[in-house]
Amino acid sequence: PAESHLRPAGSPLTVIAHRGASSAAPENTLVSDEIARRGGAEYIENDVQPSKDGVPYVLHDGTVDRTTDGIGLIRSLTSAQLDALDAGSWFAPVYKGTRIPTLAAQLEDLKSRGGAMLLEIKGAHTRDEVATIVKTIRDHGMTDRVFVQSFEVSALRYTYELAPELPLGLLRDALDADPVAIAKELHLSAYNPSDGGLSKRLGVVQDLHAAGVAVNVWTVDSAARWRALEAAGVDGIITNRPAELSGWNAAW
Ligand code: G3P
Ligand code: CA
Repeated sequence: PAESHLRPAGSPLTVIAHRGASSAAPENTLVSDEIARRGGAEYIENDVQPSKDGVPYVLHDGTVDRTTDGIGLIRSLTSAQLDALDAGSWFAPVYKGTRIPTLAAQLEDLKSRGGAMLLEIKGAHTRDEVATIVKTIRDHGMTDRVFVQSFEVSALRYTYELAPELPLGLLRDALDADPVAIAKELHLSAYNPSDGGLSKRLGVVQDLHAAGVAVNVWTVDSAARWRALEAAGVDGIITNRPAELSGWNAAW
């Protein structure tokens, strides 16, 4: 990809809101995304998975059990069933009536309010399922404001085949033996390791930068770690506390 996603020298860390402002509002909903934007997040991280009838929804878990008043696998529930669930009360009564957003609704909201999305293709997806995600992004004219990431190599390969213009990030818990090699093989714009994984070998940040690949680290909520990772030269931080990270950046 021609566009660089590296943090320019001397500029603050990119603020990426993990499932929206998930410490302040129910994760992966329009309200948590809105609070994240208002708190200064540049990217909103959202997880996407299909309903039984193939509609991409924004939900982290494989089931709706933890974050809604329903039960069952998301892939076993139709869009009509998902649309009827309350995805806010589990977090706080004030959020009662919040819905599980479709990817289309989330993109429409971002488009009207501004901001960009770090979209995680969560779990194994077929090529057709990835094609539906790509079509949704294109239909909303959002290819220049969506960064796709996944733990699933196959999902990244399908995305590249279908939409080479979309920047790609590979999520990893433990580091690969040769992150630069896999970045080249998968056409990555970013390599996104866990804080614990990266900390075992911080030097890979410079190796990846030399190859033009950005490094965004998850999920980091403490100023002590932001400071250490900034010193190591990482580009972005995926955090549950985007407003606090933005404030920390502002004092840079
Ligand atoms: O963006 C990184 C992070 O979201 C990966 O873990 O389980 O929160 O999707 P998870
Ligand atoms: Ca995620």
